Amino acid sequence: MEAVQTYIENNKERFLEELIGILKIPSISADPAHAGDVKKAATAMAEALRKAGIEQTQIFDTDGHPIVFGEKMINAAWPTVLVYGHYDVQPPDPLDQWESPPFEPVIKKSETHPDGAIYARGACDDKGQVFMHIKAMEAMLSYDALRCNVKFLLEGEEEVGSEHLAGFCKEHKDLLTCDVILISDTAIISNETPSITSGLRGLSYVEVTVTGANRDLHSGVYGGAVANPINVLSQMIGSLHDEKHRITIPGFYDKVQELSQQERVDMNKAPHDEEAYKRDLGIDAVMGEAGYTTLERTTVRPTLDVNGMWGGYTGDGAKTVLPSKAHAKISMRLVPDQDPDEIVAIFTDHLKAIAPDGVKVDVRPHHHGRPAVTPVDSVEYKAAAMAMEQTFGKKPIPARGGGSIPIVSLFEEVLGVKSVLMGFGLDSDDIHSPNEHYGIFNFYQGIRTIPYFYQFYGELKNGQYRQD
Ligand code: BES
Ligand code: MN
Ligand code: MN
Repeated sequence: MEAVQTYIENNKERFLEELIGILKIPSISADPAHAGDVKKAATAMAEALRKAGIEQTQIFDTDGHPIVFGEKMINAAWPTVLVYGHYDVQPPDPLDQWESPPFEPVIKKSETHPDGAIYARGACDDKGQVFMHIKAMEAMLSYDALRCNVKFLLEGEEEVGSEHLAGFCKEHKDLLTCDVILISDTAIISNETPSITSGLRGLSYVEVTVTGANRDLHSGVYGGAVANPINVLSQMIGSLHDEKHRITIPGFYDKVQELSQQERVDMNKAPHDEEAYKRDLGIDAVMGEAGYTTLERTTVRPTLDVNGMWGGYTGDGAKTVLPSKAHAKISMRLVPDQDPDEIVAIFTDHLKAIAPDGVKVDVRPHHHGRPAVTPVDSVEYKAAAMAMEQTFGKKPIPARGGGSIPIVSLFEEVLGVKSVLMGFGLDSDDIHSPNEHYGIFNFYQGIRTIPYFYQFYGELKNGQYRQD
């Protein structure tokens, strides 16, 4: 292990240079114009895996973006770790809010990242975190220090709902056989307070269209006499929360697991500075469901948010128009045991029920995913916790995450395997936002920690084998 850590120390500048190369590829999965770049990023990832010593790496084409799969089976008696991650990124817009272009990585120091952070779309989510695994592997394989078998499954469609990965998993169950799935695509509480994500929220994402008259109308000639779809949609959306910021859709909370008082006390022990939180966001008050803390509202409580809304005239100046249609994209973050299909169904029923006469309401579901809870008493959690304690000098605390990685629950369903969510980002790294960045410290700390995970996991698993 000492040799592995020395190798990492001696090669870290090169690791960063190589990451910069990968961050320059605009692998935006949502934009068909960038399909070639997504493919290019897949090839770059496969190349990096081969270079790290995972010679058996292939690229599987799908009807969408490619899937990169690599494996190194060393000893059938050893446990197999499957590393999952994604090399696709979110669209970078609004471009004018980036201080440097999203695909021209630069390193800058900040208060949160005194050692510097690398600014680029995908730096933290998730190319930088995937690359830590590839470089840790390179270090371990250089010294024949890996005591587990390893598989890599890297996809190019995470940011658009992992549509083709689900089918791939069902089709290639044998290829993906493993004992645990290791994912770095989440955050720690802070660089001083390491944590391991113990659960993720699920997601239902829908697009609503309200249609009034069969064409756009003059707002003076017809205004006041026919339903305005934008007025109607705004009103309907406004009614989806009550004055306590609870969601008003009948049945929405029916399957929500309430935490016990003790669990709530425990989770709120995690450091959280509400004043600093507000200052960072430039707001003078937080807003959310009455009776819950910010930490609870962003992890163990479900939400409903408009992500985008449009219709009518939005160009320069004024155009007097009574629009025919209004649209909204709405996300609902779900917690155990809410079911995304059921939520879409009750959402649709409710919207149709409250729609006034004179408009038609159409609800189109987009991607969705189930919430996931990962055990904190498993061998793999223990190995991850020991690894982080080794490098941070502090025991990590389990913390639920507010985001979603829908494939986690799918892995459980299809492969019957649980995941360990050992991410190294920070919530303040601006993933999906302008100026996304990833701390240089976090990048290196990940590379240093990952080899310990394999060491402890291998040892714990083998100890287990000896027992029975
Ligand atoms: N890495 C994120 C998820 C995440 C971020 C989990 C931070 C926990 C903390 C992932 O890439 C992501 O953005 N997921 C999407 C869901 C997907 C279906 C588009 C999300 O959460 O919006
Ligand atoms: Mn991600
Ligand atoms: Mn993301």
